[in-house]
Amino acid sequence: MCGIFGYIGHRNASKLLVKGLLRLEYRGYDSSGVVVKNGTLESFKDIGKISEMASSLPSLQGSIGIAHTRWATHGAVTRENAHPHLSNDGKVAIVHNGIIQNSEMLRKRLKKLGVSLNSETDSEIFCHFISMDLQEGKTPMEALRNVLSMVRGTWGLCVLFLEYDFVLCARNGSPLIVGRGKNEMFISSDPHAIREHTDQLVALEDGQIAKVDSRDVQVMQIDGRAVESSYLNLEEEWGESELGDYPHFMLKEIHEQAQSLQHCISGRLRHAEGTSVLGGLQIEPHNLAQLPHIRLIGCGTALHAAQIGQILIEQWARIPAVSHVASEFNANDPVINPDALHLAISQSGETADTLSAVKEIQRKGADVYGVVNVVGSTIARQCGKGVYIHSGPEQSVASTKAFTNMVGALALFSLQLGRSRHLSKTKGKSIAREMRKLPEKIRSYLENPGPIDEAVELVMQSKSVLFLGRGISSPVASEGALKLMEIAYIPCLAYPAGEMKHGPIALIEQDSPVVVIAPNDGVQDRTMNAIHECKARGAKIILIHEEGDPIAEIGDVSIPIPATIPMLTPLLSVLPTQLIAYQTALSLGHDVDRPRNLAKSVTVE
Ligand code: F6R
Repeated sequence: MCGIFGYIGHRNASKLLVKGLLRLEYRGYDSSGVVVKNGTLESFKDIGKISEMASSLPSLQGSIGIAHTRWATHGAVTRENAHPHLSNDGKVAIVHNGIIQNSEMLRKRLKKLGVSLNSETDSEIFCHFISMDLQEGKTPMEALRNVLSMVRGTWGLCVLFLEYDFVLCARNGSPLIVGRGKNEMFISSDPHAIREHTDQLVALEDGQIAKVDSRDVQVMQIDGRAVESSYLNLEEEWGESELGDYPHFMLKEIHEQAQSLQHCISGRLRHAEGTSVLGGLQIEPHNLAQLPHIRLIGCGTALHAAQIGQILIEQWARIPAVSHVASEFNANDPVINPDALHLAISQSGETADTLSAVKEIQRKGADVYGVVNVVGSTIARQCGKGVYIHSGPEQSVASTKAFTNMVGALALFSLQLGRSRHLSKTKGKSIAREMRKLPEKIRSYLENPGPIDEAVELVMQSKSVLFLGRGISSPVASEGALKLMEIAYIPCLAYPAGEMKHGPIALIEQDSPVVVIAPNDGVQDRTMNAIHECKARGAKIILIHEEGDPIAEIGDVSIPIPATIPMLTPLLSVLPTQLIAYQTALSLGHDVDRPRNLAKSVTVE
């Protein structure tokens, strides 16, 4: 979604701003722009790719500026609606992430005051109100505070002034971080854009404002109270984010899964005791014994990982568990048991729906543990406890390696929980042994992924694709469907295999492709029934099965995956679905890493 980058220092700002924007590109956007202070505030913006905007960018001198990638919410994708927005006297420029709910009322107020508005956005109001206050003699900080007292909604906001050598920032519900270099400072909505310049950063909290000059940042509460801000260290793993020899980040990230899962589990498995230790999820045994239930919350891919986590927790720890769509969580005024355990699962750590569920749970007196990838992200900080999944940077909009590591972290957690309750040491050891083998099995599958091309032939021209799975393979079916739909734009439906005959079977006609996830997991026989029912109506079955399983004969295209214990099969069965989605999108000529309308980090509810 929208991204912000800012620079205050001694180097050519416009070049650094464009570079920063390119680092934010993976988040999804439809237009971009920069403004640099150079005698005047020189601004340039356009719709389309950042590279196109940058190629027609005039040479802008100046060593202080702010920049933005926009993902349209208020107003169409036009040059006028792109950020930055400038006040009519040319003295104030702003970039804004988030949504201002009362913008219509504020726009009307500005019009009544005779201010001409130049865009349809909710963001533009900021520069005009600030500029009016400056004209009346207020300081930049007073003007910022004043406009923030008028707006309702969410903001990550940067303000650049013609007459001052600093940038003012404000945050409420939309992330903003400030990085410190040598006599230069960087501002961004995403640590990924700053990592190449510095590993020292301050993350603003909701309700805070900051003044950033070329040497330091001064953070305060919106009412002016000073805040003790200390620099965090951005972890090393956030460095390796180049494409290398891969044509797309998605393919690179699919292939990184063996290594990233290794990262997630290594040092956390305790083979001798048949358990695992997740430092951030240590719960006292007596509290564990009394846990009434566990709730797991996430969106999209994170939701599918949560659904798998739910099953793992129930199977291994025998604690009732339930997963929730984060965007629905607050809708029905949920009853929260303060004794229950809550897990918020998120790659970006910025998903507004998940964050809002976290806050609701905390408001009602319960703790939430984060299961998050991005270090220092909002959800990680809001939870204050939990585990990092250690996928490293995921840049393709379609999530792959983060799914694997979410499931990996939840498996570790379930094992730890299980061993603190009823799971025997022998059973724990066999689970730990199998987990340890997974990275190698992922690697070996990816070296020889089976007839993916044949599967692509079946799905790429079809009207829709049905994905089926049963038990722990049902969320894998959902994940496979989501991936294909996201990047190949083919309507996909995922159903638990047994539910197929209760409705989706109506869709099946001659040659309809049906992807079936059917590991040898004890519930396979019922999946077989669904396969027969589809085949009887002419469907073509793309079967994902374990190596050596005779079930392979039944598929029109059969893709073998290495065998493992049933509860860990999602970590292998998801791989062919990722490759099918990738290859199909590629064959259809789509932008695999940046699918239309989608954003990597969804910071609006
Ligand atoms: C799917 C995808 C999205 C995200 C969802 C949650 O490929 O990327 O469905 O999974 O927006 O994002 P996070 O995990 O960042 O909370």
